[in-house]
Amino acid sequence: MQQHGGGDASQRIARISAHLNPNKSQVRGFLGPQQLENALTGMDLVIIPAGVPRKPGMTRDDLFNINAGIVKTLCEGIAKCCPKAIVNVISNPVNSTVPIAAEVFKKAGTYDPRRLLGVTMLDVVRANTFVAEILGHDPREVDVPVVGGHAGVTILPLLSQIKPPCSFTSEEIAHLTSRIQNGGTEVVEAKAGAGSATLSMAYAAVKFADACLRGLRGDADVIRCAFVPSVVTELPFFASKVRLGRNGVEEIYPLGPVNEFERAGLEKAKKELAASIEKGISFANK
Ligand code: 2OP
Repeated sequence: MQQHGGGDASQRIARISAHLNPNKSQVRGFLGPQQLENALTGMDLVIIPAGVPRKPGMTRDDLFNINAGIVKTLCEGIAKCCPKAIVNVISNPVNSTVPIAAEVFKKAGTYDPRRLLGVTMLDVVRANTFVAEILGHDPREVDVPVVGGHAGVTILPLLSQIKPPCSFTSEEIAHLTSRIQNGGTEVVEAKAGAGSATLSMAYAAVKFADACLRGLRGDADVIRCAFVPSVVTELPFFASKVRLGRNGVEEIYPLGPVNEFERAGLEKAKKELAASIEKGISFANK
């Protein structure tokens, strides 16, 4: 962080956020590995957005070498300081960083699969927006389940299960699927080297964190898509609809009926996901 206006990180972040009006919450800043324990101790929910973003031409997997180590270090801190926290992993490649987190927690003896969630909410936000655009609906009233993972073909919108029910031509389905899968890349290219999605990612992260907090508070029927330890497919991790509650993921829903187009997409997604998951697991254990 650049030194502007003096003071330690905590004071500076408190000044930057002094215009917010959060309800009964306090904003504090922490900087560097030496303050990690202070940042984590006592937390119920930890959100990990740390790491480097993509530049044009890069896949999320190209970030692995830098971000994998960052996520590993942060998860070691979580295992030590707040082992019961719900963890939201945003750092890319999510398809590998979530398995890394799981391995770190297993090694530390703190692993609870219900408390580890990869954030795929931005895929749902994009899917709802793009579908609503075509239908002329309010995006807040459209619900598109997006399953699989959070990179390219692993992002699989189930357009046959949209609520409220609607129908598209096969051209529209192909176009929508590809636009949802490449939404992140669309932003990376538009930013031309200045990073990846920040505003929409922050929006999705807040929506998802809020859902986790509502679950922790005991609200009923908090259902969202997330990339979680799963038995929905033969893979150890998979994104699908989950119900959030006091312990994190209380229930994982099956995929439901998928059509032929989606079944083909699912096979492609699983192939890429299997490799990304394995890459994360072997990194954590090397
Ligand atoms: C995205 O999908 C940053 O992975 C994020 O835009």
